[in-house]
Amino acid sequence: MTLRCSILFLSFELALIATCMTIKRETSTIVARSSWNSLGCYTDNVSGRALPNSEAVPGGSAAMTNEACQSTCLAAGFSIAGTEYGRECWCGNALVNGGAPVSDGCNMACNGNSAETCGGSNRLNVYQDTSPSTPTSTGKRGLVYNNNNPAANAEYADLFKGYSKISWGYDWGFPSFGLDASFEFVPMLWGLPSGSDPAWTAAVQTPGTKSILGYNEPDLTYSGSSNILPAAAAAGYETYMEPFSSSVKISTPNVLWNNVGSSSGGAYDSKTWMQYFMGNCTCHFDFAAIHYYQDCFPADGQSGAAWFQGNVTDAYQRLGLPVWITEFQCYGTDAQQVAFLQSVLPWLDAQSYVARYAYFGVFPDYLVNTAGTGLSDIGIAFATT
Ligand SMILES: *[C@@H]1O[C@H](CO)[C@@H](O)[C@H](O)[C@H]1NC(C)=O
Ligand SMILES: *[C@@H]1O[C@H](CO)[C@@H](O)[C@H](O)[C@H]1NC(C)=O
Ligand SMILES: *[C@@H]1O[C@H](CO)[C@@H](O)[C@H](O)[C@H]1NC(C)=O
Repeated sequence: MTLRCSILFLSFELALIATCMTIKRETSTIVARSSWNSLGCYTDNVSGRALPNSEAVPGGSAAMTNEACQSTCLAAGFSIAGTEYGRECWCGNALVNGGAPVSDGCNMACNGNSAETCGGSNRLNVYQDTSPSTPTSTGKRGLVYNNNNPAANAEYADLFKGYSKISWGYDWGFPSFGLDASFEFVPMLWGLPSGSDPAWTAAVQTPGTKSILGYNEPDLTYSGSSNILPAAAAAGYETYMEPFSSSVKISTPNVLWNNVGSSSGGAYDSKTWMQYFMGNCTCHFDFAAIHYYQDCFPADGQSGAAWFQGNVTDAYQRLGLPVWITEFQCYGTDAQQVAFLQSVLPWLDAQSYVARYAYFGVFPDYLVNTAGTGLSDIGIAFATT
C-alpha cells in the first residue's frame, strides 16, 4: 500500500478501485470565439510568465492556433489568451511580470495554421475575451483535499487557483493547511472525539467561515469513516455543532446516500441512519451533505449519470434541504470519468436545490496529475466544464 493509496481510506473503501486506472487523453471540439479582441504582441518574461497559466490545448502544440488557445483559456475561466513560439498557449486575467507591447510585432506561424501568427521567441500574441458571458463561478464547485503532499500543505488544491468555476474547499477537518485565500474554506467536524478540541471553536469562529460540515460518514465502518450510532451522533451535534447555528450554516452529517444493505453504523442503511439521527437531534440544519460512489457506465447498460442524479434528487426530496455533495466519484477509466463529469456538472449547476459539490478528490492520479504538478484530465474537466 503506497502513501497515495492510503489517503483513500479517508473516504470510502471502494475508491481504491480507481487507483489503477489507465490514463487516456481526452480531446474535445474547439469552438471559435468571435469576441476575442487582439491586444497585440507583448514581451513574455520567461522567469515569470506575462500570462501565468499554460493550459492543455486539445491536439497539443502541433494543433496550436489562436482560436484553440482562446477557447481553452475561456473554458478554464480566463479572459486573456496568448500564443507563443508557434506552439504554446498561456492564459491569465491580466498581463503581469513586465509584459510590455513589442513594436515590431509577433512573427512565428502557428503550428496548427501557418496562415496566422502565434507569437514569437518570448513574444506573446495576446487576445482578450470581451464577451459578457465569460464563465464565472456558480459558487457550487469545490475541492476535497488534504495535506498528503511533500510540503504537508494545500498545494494540490492551490493548483486550481485561477479557475473561476472553483470557489471553495474542505479537507475533512481543520485547519485549512494554508488553502489559498481565493477559496472559501469550510471546516468539518470529522467525528465525535475532535468536538471538544478548542481549535474547532476557533475554526468555526475564524472570520470568513460561512458554513460548517458535520461528521464524515458516521453511517459507515470503513477506516476513515467516523462510525457513530445515530443517538450518540445527535448528542454530539447538539453539543459541538448547534451552538454555532446563529453565526454559520450547519450541515447534516455526511452520509453515503446510495449505500444500501450495509450493516455499517448499526443494522440499517445510510438513509435510515439519517432518519434516526434526525429523530434523535433537537437541531437546526441549513443543508444536507451526502456522498455518492458508483460506476460511471454500469455494465448492464444503465446510466451512471442518471443514478447519480436520482440519488441527489432523492436526498433533496427526503430531507427537504439544499444538498451539498461533499464527495462523489464514478468508477471508470479517466475518459469515462471525464464523460460523466461533462454530463452531470451542467445538471448540478442547473438544479436550484444543489448548493455545492466536490468531486473526489484533489490527489495525484485523481484530479491532480501523477507528478502532483498540475491538473489531470479529470481535474481539467472538473475545473472547466
Ligand atoms: C520577470 O519575472 C520575475 C519573476 O516573477 C520578476 O522578478 C521580474 O521582475 C520580472 N521581470 C520584469 C522585467 O518584469
Ligand atoms: C434514535 O436513534 C436510535 C439508534 O441510535 C434509534 O433506535 C431510535 O429509533 C432513534 N429515535 C428516533 C426518535 O428516531
Ligand atoms: C441511487 O444509486 C444506485 C446505485 O448506487 C441506483 O441503483 C439507484 O437507482 C439510485 N437511486 C435513484 C433514486 O436514482
